[in-house]
Amino acid sequence: MEFKIKRGDLLRQKTACLVVGAFEGRLKTPALRELDAAFGGRLMRSIRTKEFSGADGELLLLHAEVGVPCERLLVVGLGREKDFTLNRLRRVTSAATRFLIERKTATFLLALSQVTVKGSSFAQRLQAVGEGVLLADYRFDQYLDEKKRSRTIALGTIEVWIDADESRNEADAALTSAQAVCAGVCFARDLVNQPGNCKSPQYLAQQAVEMAEREGLRATLLKKSELETEGFGGVLGVAQGSSREPVMIVLEYRGDTEGARPIALVGKGVVFDSGGISLKPSEKMDEMKMDMGGAAAVLGSLLAAARLQLPVNLVGIVPAVENMPSGTAIRPGDILTLLSGKTVEVLNTDAEGRLILADALTYAKRYEPRVMIDFATLTGACIVALGHQASAVLGQHDGLIRQLIKAGERSGERLWQLPLWEDYATMLKSDFADLKNIGGRAAGTITAAAFLQHFAGEQPWAHIDIAGTAWEEKGAPGSPRGGTGVGVRMLIEYLRGTS
Ligand code: BES
Ligand code: MN
Ligand code: ZN
Repeated sequence: MEFKIKRGDLLRQKTACLVVGAFEGRLKTPALRELDAAFGGRLMRSIRTKEFSGADGELLLLHAEVGVPCERLLVVGLGREKDFTLNRLRRVTSAATRFLIERKTATFLLALSQVTVKGSSFAQRLQAVGEGVLLADYRFDQYLDEKKRSRTIALGTIEVWIDADESRNEADAALTSAQAVCAGVCFARDLVNQPGNCKSPQYLAQQAVEMAEREGLRATLLKKSELETEGFGGVLGVAQGSSREPVMIVLEYRGDTEGARPIALVGKGVVFDSGGISLKPSEKMDEMKMDMGGAAAVLGSLLAAARLQLPVNLVGIVPAVENMPSGTAIRPGDILTLLSGKTVEVLNTDAEGRLILADALTYAKRYEPRVMIDFATLTGACIVALGHQASAVLGQHDGLIRQLIKAGERSGERLWQLPLWEDYATMLKSDFADLKNIGGRAAGTITAAAFLQHFAGEQPWAHIDIAGTAWEEKGAPGSPRGGTGVGVRMLIEYLRGTS
C-alpha cells in the first residue's frame, strides 16, 4: 500500500471513490452542495429523507452518472463539529477504509484532512488520516487458507487530497510518519496475535533480533545460563514450570549522542500465562497469549522510533518467559531471591508479571536511564477499574505522568492515573520475606505497581497497565479482533515531545 498526494479541483479527480466528511448539523456547506450537484442531487435527498445525518461514523455511498471522473462518493459522518478530535478523524478514516475494503475497493481518494480540528496542525491531521487507513488495513491471516485470505483485498494506492495552499512536503512527511508509527503498531499486533504454541520466548527473541537487524538496532540476548549466573531469580522462578527456556531481550536504539542517557522501556513478555500452579479458570484462557502485550509495545515502539529517527537514545528490555504449571513449577509459598537481592514470597503464581518485571527494572538501571517506563498486561483489576477504554498509569513522578497522559490524549491511546500513595505499600509486607507478590483483593492494580516501585530506582518512572487495552474483544474499524498494539502510538507521541 502506498500514499499519493493529490491536488486540484476535487470533482475533476479520476477515482473509484471520493471520500469526504460532513459534520452533523452542518450539511449544507458550499463544498457539499457542489458535490451534490455533481451527484444529481442525491446527497441532499439522502439528507432530507434522514438517511444521512452526519452522525459520528455514519456512511453514505453514492454512485455518479456515467462519464463523471469520480465514480462514487462516500460521505462520512463526523459528528458534532465542536466535539471533533484528531482521534475521531483517525477513527472515521478507519471506518471509511474498512467499508471500502469490504466492498473490494482497493484505491480511493481521501479528502478528509481539510476538516479543522481545534488546536491541531495540518501535519497532525494528515498523520491521523494516514494512520486511520493503515490501521484499518491490518489483518492477521497467516493461518487462513488462500480462499479465506482472498476474501479481503489488499489496498493499492490511496490518494490523499490537499488544498492548493497546503505544503506537499509537509503532507509527504506526515504520511511517512504515519507509516513508521503503524509499522510499529502492526509489528506489535502480529506478535500478540501469534498463538502460544508458535510463540516461545525464543520466538519472541528471534523476532526482536530480526527486527533489530532490519532497523539498525543493537540486540543482545541473555540466555538462561547467563540469567542464572547473574541471579535473575524472578525470571527463572516464573519460567521454571515451562519446558521453554526464558530469555532476556535487550535492544538499543541510538538517535542521540553516544553519552546521552537513554530512556529505558521495559515490557512484560509472558508468552502465555496459564497462571501456573495457581491455575486460571479455563474460560478465556486463550486470550492469555496476549500477556506479552507490554513486550510488543516496547518492540513496536523501538521499530517506529528507528524508522522516524527520533533524536533520543532508547534501551528496550523484555523479559520473555512462559508461565506454566508442572512438576518443576514454582509453588505458592516459595521464596525467590530476585536480581536486586530482595526476597519475595510467592503466594500466588498467577501474579508472575511483577516477578519478571522486578528483575527487568533492576537490570534496566544498569543503563543509567534518565526515564524508565514499563508496559505490562499486569492485572485483571485494571479491567475492573477502567474497562477497555484506557490504560492505567502509575508512578512517582507527576511531571512524567502528565506528559504521558497528554501523549495518550493526542494519540488516542488514553491513560488514566491511579494513586500510588505510600499507604498501599504495607499491603505487600510478608512474614517470611522482604515482600509478598500479592496484596489481597483490594486495589489490585495499585498494589502491583507498589510492588514494582521497589525496583524502579530514583529516576522518573511510570508503570502502564495495559491489561484492558492490549486486546480488542469485538473488533472495531481500526482494530480487528485480537492484539491492538496499544502503547506504540502513545509512546512515540511522548518521545516526540521530549526530544
Ligand atoms: N496476565 C494477568 C493479568 C491479566 C488479566 C491481563 C486479564 C489481561 C487480562 C496477570 O498475570 C494476572 O494473572 N494477574 C492476577 C494477579 C492476582 C493473582 C494478584 C490477576 O489480575 O488476577
Ligand atoms: Mn498471571
Ligand atoms: Zn500475566
